[in-house]
Amino acid sequence: MLAPKKNDKAILIGIRTNSVLQDRPLPYDLFLQVGGQVVHFRKPGDVVTGDRVKQLCTQSSEGLLFIPAEQKSLHLQSLRDQLKDPDLKTEDRSRMLKESAFVHVHDLFTSKDIQPVVTEARSLVEDMVSFVSTDVAAVASLLNLSRHDYYTYNHSVDVAVYSIVLAKRVYGTDDKKLLITAGLGGLLHDIGKRDIDLGLINKASSLTSSEWEMMRKHPEFGHAYVKQVDTIPNDSKMVVLQHHENFDGTGYPFGLSGEGISRLARVVTIADVFDALTTKRSYHHASSPLEAISIMKGMQPGKFDPSIFNSFDRKFQTSPKVEIPTSFDPCCAANSRVKKK
Ligand SMILES: [Fe+2]
Ligand SMILES: [Fe+2]
Repeated sequence: MLAPKKNDKAILIGIRTNSVLQDRPLPYDLFLQVGGQVVHFRKPGDVVTGDRVKQLCTQSSEGLLFIPAEQKSLHLQSLRDQLKDPDLKTEDRSRMLKESAFVHVHDLFTSKDIQPVVTEARSLVEDMVSFVSTDVAAVASLLNLSRHDYYTYNHSVDVAVYSIVLAKRVYGTDDKKLLITAGLGGLLHDIGKRDIDLGLINKASSLTSSEWEMMRKHPEFGHAYVKQVDTIPNDSKMVVLQHHENFDGTGYPFGLSGEGISRLARVVTIADVFDALTTKRSYHHASSPLEAISIMKGMQPGKFDPSIFNSFDRKFQTSPKVEIPTSFDPCCAANSRVKKK
């Protein structure tokens, strides 16, 4: 969602072009920005074809389409309906999941009161758990959608998906409650970045020591947000606080080690680093999943819980090909550039 606009008396909110319902009757009004003017483009019941959406996507990816704020729930419902539509291809359904997640994460990072937003996000994570449980292709298609660019919203969604997948493997269970706890932990893990200046988060050059000090506060900032929300499981809250702790005690904010770090936080730490490495950022290319595993193997021994990392690595037969500074941090990879040999 983008900044709200006023058109006549309606408050309009931006939606991503890719998230528009295609080839079916629209449940909401759609407004289009043309040359600085916002005009009524389609009414409920009208159809926007897939070709028209493609055309709009080539014009501008953001700031082009709007819906009335009071119709936001219709937009989210249309995304959920498509996600469950067995006639849609897996790639289209995974696109809908990402688009719906984007809206929820935007709200998590911008709403004054996160309590009601968390309740909505929970249903999103339930959808995620069901989706990644359907088949391997579903996870692969989500992975493919994630390698284009990097920003905190996409990162949060991706880490949620990886956390669910990894928790499934580590805990050897399909227990929905546990997987939702893992997904929520992944979705919320960086919520403390709400309090960090955007310029700092997106800075392509190395952070100064005072900037770095500020960045390292985000787990505690995040915990302050989630600790009062009783619909968030305690294990998910621990993920927010502990996802930068390292198994060998070299992490932050408390330098906890081993079993002193919650098991789920140890899972999400791996998902977090994996996502940071496989996503393109302004200062490094997107590594392939195999390459990322290789890089993670070459990181400081003891950074990750070995038993969890091994279950993550089990399917990958690689030898390290890439140099990585031991100080690599997924929140600030500019401080630890990856060099390909
Ligand atoms: Fe973080
Ligand atoms: Fe992160």
